[in-house]
Amino acid sequence: MIEMDKTAQTGDMSPAAQLVEMLGPDLVLTGEATLPYCRDWHGDVQTGAIAVLRPRSTPEVQACVKAAAALRLGVVPQGGNTGLVLGAVPESSGAQVVITLERMTQVRTLDVDNFSAVVEAGVVLEQFKETVAKAGLFFPLTLGAQGSCRIGGNVATNAGGVNVLRYGMTRDLVLGLEVVLPDGSLFEGLSLLRKDNRGIDLKQMFIGAEGTLGIITAVSVKLLPAPDQVATALIALPKLADAIDLYRRARRECCDLMSAFEFMPPLAMVLAKEAMPDLQIPLTGYPAYALIEISGSGLVDIDALMERFLETAFESGLALDGVVAQSHAQAKNLWDIREGMNLGQAERGRHMRSDISVPLSRLAEFVTEAEAALTAEMPGCVCVSYGHIGDGNVHLNVMPDYSLGEDQIDPQISMAKKIMNAVLDRYDGSISAEHGIGRLKKEDFEARLPDVHRALLTSIKRAVDPHLIMNPGCQIDLP
Ligand code: FAD
Ligand code: LAC
Ligand code: ZN
Repeated sequence: MIEMDKTAQTGDMSPAAQLVEMLGPDLVLTGEATLPYCRDWHGDVQTGAIAVLRPRSTPEVQACVKAAAALRLGVVPQGGNTGLVLGAVPESSGAQVVITLERMTQVRTLDVDNFSAVVEAGVVLEQFKETVAKAGLFFPLTLGAQGSCRIGGNVATNAGGVNVLRYGMTRDLVLGLEVVLPDGSLFEGLSLLRKDNRGIDLKQMFIGAEGTLGIITAVSVKLLPAPDQVATALIALPKLADAIDLYRRARRECCDLMSAFEFMPPLAMVLAKEAMPDLQIPLTGYPAYALIEISGSGLVDIDALMERFLETAFESGLALDGVVAQSHAQAKNLWDIREGMNLGQAERGRHMRSDISVPLSRLAEFVTEAEAALTAEMPGCVCVSYGHIGDGNVHLNVMPDYSLGEDQIDPQISMAKKIMNAVLDRYDGSISAEHGIGRLKKEDFEARLPDVHRALLTSIKRAVDPHLIMNPGCQIDLP
């Protein structure tokens, strides 16, 4: 306090004090209060920020951006801070401000007749899903972090999740955007149109940009009729390749009504149980598992479809065992196994997380080759490969040999990433199928960026953000 008075008197105020003066104390957090906004979800990284700005409305976001721009401060947009690539966590220099959207939590409109809604960026995904469900509608984006992540963050990362195989990525659910640009002006594009082919679709530029081009303040989204029938089954299989065969079969035999197909190794059960001791584990002792969901509404019999599908799966020899959830609670328990394994890994300690994709036809071969390379070169490490295999997307995570000691964890994580990426490059795969680049994958992204792509990305960034204030250090480094 004494120091603030002194700097104010000398006209040499700290940037934090200037922000308080420009925006008022209600919008600005400083000091220790900023720390939770500067820590990632796993707790692996803690940095600092000059201040955290907490606007309540779009004009206040504009004011925050203008204030930060006037002081030439880097701006890090933040939603629920569940991102896994450090995009929402400021750089360790401590010279950036976070703008959190956590106070922008209005569902502005919900139009049942148009199957659409306009929702502010700070609305928590799960709350939005519950709100639209009360109107008999469905927002299909579903992911383990949905109790904390926010719609703006979902759009900024083009989040995927477990329903992509049927409904697409977040991009496929967005009709329009409202975005505060780095100079404080407003891109007003909250369209409710499903078809609009008037030239280049500018909103696409902000989807997946991870806050490097502007701050999304509101989103217009597509909704669907809520599926009134859902069947969920956990199936045991001999191996990953059989799970992929079963997925192909499900695509052909389930009339396009399959809404999720997740792969889990046996360790998933162990990790989930460690994190959530009350979980029921209905199948154990098998080499591989698939969690499959079929859903629909109207004149279809989803339970009968699941039953028939499982019969053919057993007849073909692909399925070894299986359970079908008999209640909503049992289905939730099966999904908790899938999502609890993330918590279990986090609790074991720092580990290498990945988010890769390869063509579905080569996924099993890739995982086998990458896991073999990892265990050969890093004896004692534990590979956990799981996820959205229908999308050709697997999270191949590596838990280091923790017995080697704390100082060996980072070198082991780097080594695991290098070994896995070397295999991935031979498959022409993607180092980021759904989590984005952030600060964590920037080096690996840039190393694989063709010159023409880099030139285009750089031109767009410089045109939209000439002073480079939006999320500096995220995605690519510009001189
Ligand atoms: P944040 O973490 O706050 O931000 C992410 C990025 O978006 C940052 O670069 C940030 O600067 C930018 N950003 C945030 N809000 C805005 C805004 N309003 N305008 C502009 N830029 C903004 N991801 C998946 O894709 N699929 C999954 O299945 C999945 N499962 C997960 C499970 C767990 C347990 C966890 C912890 C994470 C998971 N994630 C998954 C990652 C994460 O939840 C998603 O990336 C999510 O979309 C991030 O939303 P958020 O609000 O937390 O964004
Ligand atoms: C998942 C996150 C890690 O699929 O993307 O669990
Ligand atoms: Zn995922």
